[in-house]
Amino acid sequence: MSKPVYKPNKEFAKNARIKNMCEYNDLQEWASEDYEGFWGHYANEKLDWIEPFTNVMDESNFPFVKWFEGGKLNVAAQCIDRHLDTRKNKAAIIFEGDRGDKQIITYLELYYNVNRFANLLKKKFGVKKGDRVVIYMPMIPEAAYAMLACARIGAIHSIVFGGFSAEALRDRIEDAEAKVVLTADGAYRKDKPYMLKPVVDTALEGDTTVEKVLVVERNGEDIEWVAGRDYSYNELIETQDVHCESEVMDSEDPLFLLYTSGSTGKPKGVQHNSAGYILWAQMTMEWVFDVKENDTYWCTADIGWITGHTYIVYGPLAMGATTVMFEGVPTYPDAGRPWKMVEEYKINQFYTAPTAIRVLHKMGEDEPKKYDLSSLKVLGTVGEPIDPPAWKWYYEEVGASKCAIVDTYWQTETGGHIVSPLPGATPIKPACATFPLPGIMAEILDPATGERVEAGETGYMCVTRPWPSMIRGVWGDAERFVKSYFGDVKKDGKPVYFTGDGAVYDEDGYITITGRTDDVINVSGHRMGTAEIEAAIKKHPNVAEVAVVGKPHDIKGEGIFAYIVLKSDDGIADEVEEVKAINNVIKKEIGNIALCDDIVFAPGLPKTRSGKIMRRILRSIAKGEAITQDISTLEDPSVVEKIENMVKSK
Ligand code: PRX
Repeated sequence: MSKPVYKPNKEFAKNARIKNMCEYNDLQEWASEDYEGFWGHYANEKLDWIEPFTNVMDESNFPFVKWFEGGKLNVAAQCIDRHLDTRKNKAAIIFEGDRGDKQIITYLELYYNVNRFANLLKKKFGVKKGDRVVIYMPMIPEAAYAMLACARIGAIHSIVFGGFSAEALRDRIEDAEAKVVLTADGAYRKDKPYMLKPVVDTALEGDTTVEKVLVVERNGEDIEWVAGRDYSYNELIETQDVHCESEVMDSEDPLFLLYTSGSTGKPKGVQHNSAGYILWAQMTMEWVFDVKENDTYWCTADIGWITGHTYIVYGPLAMGATTVMFEGVPTYPDAGRPWKMVEEYKINQFYTAPTAIRVLHKMGEDEPKKYDLSSLKVLGTVGEPIDPPAWKWYYEEVGASKCAIVDTYWQTETGGHIVSPLPGATPIKPACATFPLPGIMAEILDPATGERVEAGETGYMCVTRPWPSMIRGVWGDAERFVKSYFGDVKKDGKPVYFTGDGAVYDEDGYITITGRTDDVINVSGHRMGTAEIEAAIKKHPNVAEVAVVGKPHDIKGEGIFAYIVLKSDDGIADEVEEVKAINNVIKKEIGNIALCDDIVFAPGLPKTRSGKIMRRILRSIAKGEAITQDISTLEDPSVVEKIENMVKSK
C-alpha cells in the first residue's frame, strides 16, 4: 500500500529557498547537464575565497578527487570573520547547560574566543598547520571554539565522542598521531557531574605522541594534573590575544578526521577537506532547513558525531545562523525539556534522531501540548530509519501538522545530507528520505548489473558522481578507502560510491532507506561495527568465539545481541556474573554505548565447513524468526536448534 503524502505548507513554501518541485527539477537538471558549472557557480556564490579556484574538479585519479583546485580559503573565517560586518552582535551560539545555565555568544564574541583559543594552541603549544588535535569534550561552547580554533590555524581536529572509553580514545589518538588533546574536567548530566579528564589520563598512559593536554574546567571536580603536560584553559585563555590571523588553506587541505565504524574491528579515520565540505554544509543548511536570518535553529546531536560537526557548528555558522547547543539530556528533568526550550528560545528548526523522538514520545506523549511550539517551521530527523508511529507523533503533536519533516539521509562519509526532502518543495511521505538533493547523483543500483533498480526492488544506495563534501580518504590507509567505498558497485563499468545501505524506490520514485547491508548496526543512531564489538568481547580471557548481530529494539532502533562460546563451562555456573564480566570488557574497550542488550552463551556457532559464521541465521534467531535457509551444509547443523532453544527460553 502506498504511503500517504503530505504537501508542503503553502505559506512556508512562498518564502522557501526552493519553492516547489519544478525548481527542484530545474536545479537537478542543471547539475546533470553541467555538473562543473553547477558546483562552480555555488562555490563562487557561497564561499569567500582568499584566492579564487582555477578548476572546479579533477577526477582523473578517481576515487581520489580534487575540488576547487587553486582556491585558497579558511573555514573558520567562513564561519566567523565574514559575518562581522553584518552580524557582529547576532547570537552565533545559544548555549543551555544541563542545569539550566545559559550563555549567548555573539559572532563578535565567537571571533574573540576562537582567536584566543587559536593563539593558545599556536603559541603556547606549538600547534602547526597539519598537526592533529584530538578533541574529547562535552557539549559546551568551548568544544565549538576548539574546532574553529583548529580550523583557523590549519590543524586537523579529530573529535572523539565523550562516551568512548580510554582504550577507544587511545586507539584514535594513536592512529591520528595526535600532538595535543583538548578536553574538560567533565560536565553535567542529569544535574550530576561526570568526568572526562581521568579517561584522558588513562588513554595517555605509557608511550604517546601527545605532548600537551588542555583542560576546560567545567564542573570544577578534582582532577589530576600532570606537570608539563596538562594546562588549564581557564587560566591561560584570558591572556591570549583576541586577534589571530587565519591560515591560508588550499581547498583540499584536510579540515578534520572523524573515526567511524566499518566492517572490520578497526575504526576508520574519515577525512574531510576544507572547501568542498564547508560549501555543502552551508548549502544543505540553507536548502534543507531553510533557516532565515532571524531564525533560531537547534540540532540536538553531540559534536562527537558528524551531525554535530556539520549541523551544530560548521553549517549553521557558515551561513551566519544562530545555533543552539545543549549540554543535557532531552528527558531531564522531564520529557518536556526540549519543548520548554523550543518555547523559550522560539526555535524555528528542530533536528534530532528517531531514538530521541521515540523516547520523548514514550516518556512524554502529552508534553508538547504544554508548551507553545508555534515558532517551529521545520522538523528534522537523522541517523536511522524512523518508524511511522514516531513520525506521526512528531508530525502531529510536535509540528501541529504544519511543519515539514525532513528525513535527512546521509553519513559521516558524505559530509552532509545527500537524500532529503526540501521543506518548501517536496511532498513528504512518512519515514521516507524522498529524493537526492540537487547536485547529488544518488541512485539505487543493482549491485550485480549496475543498473537502476525497478520500483519495489531493494538495491544498493550509491552516488554515481563525486560531490564536493565526499570523504577524501581513510587516514593513513588509501587502500581501505578504495576498498570500503568503491569496490562493490560499478555503473557502466566504472566504480561508484556505495554507502553500505540498502534502499528502495516506490512507484513515485521516492527513496526509502532499508538499512545497512554490511555488518554495521545502528544503535540509538550511533553507528557500531559488529566486528569492533566482537574484537572487544574476545579480549575476555574465557571467550573462545563470538558473533554479534543487531536485533530490532523499540527505542534504540537496533539493539546489540551477542552469541558467545566460552572456552570452559566454568563461568556459566554464574551467568549473571559472566554477563557482567563481558560487559565490563566492552565498557573498557569501547564504552557504555556498545554494551550488549542480549548475551547468549552458545554451545557453538553456525558455521560453514570453511569456517565462516552464518550471521544471517544468527540474525534470524535473535529476531525470533523461523530459519528458512538450508542448514544442512553447516559444519554442525544441530547447533542451530540448540541456540534457538536457548534464545526462546531466555
Ligand atoms: O545506515 C544509515 C543510517 O546511518 C548511517 C550513517 O551513520 P553515521 O555515519 O554515524 O552518520 C549518522 C548521521 C548522519 C547510514 O549509513 N542513516 C543515516 N540517516 C538515515 C539513516 N538511515 C535511515 N534514514 C536516515 N535518514
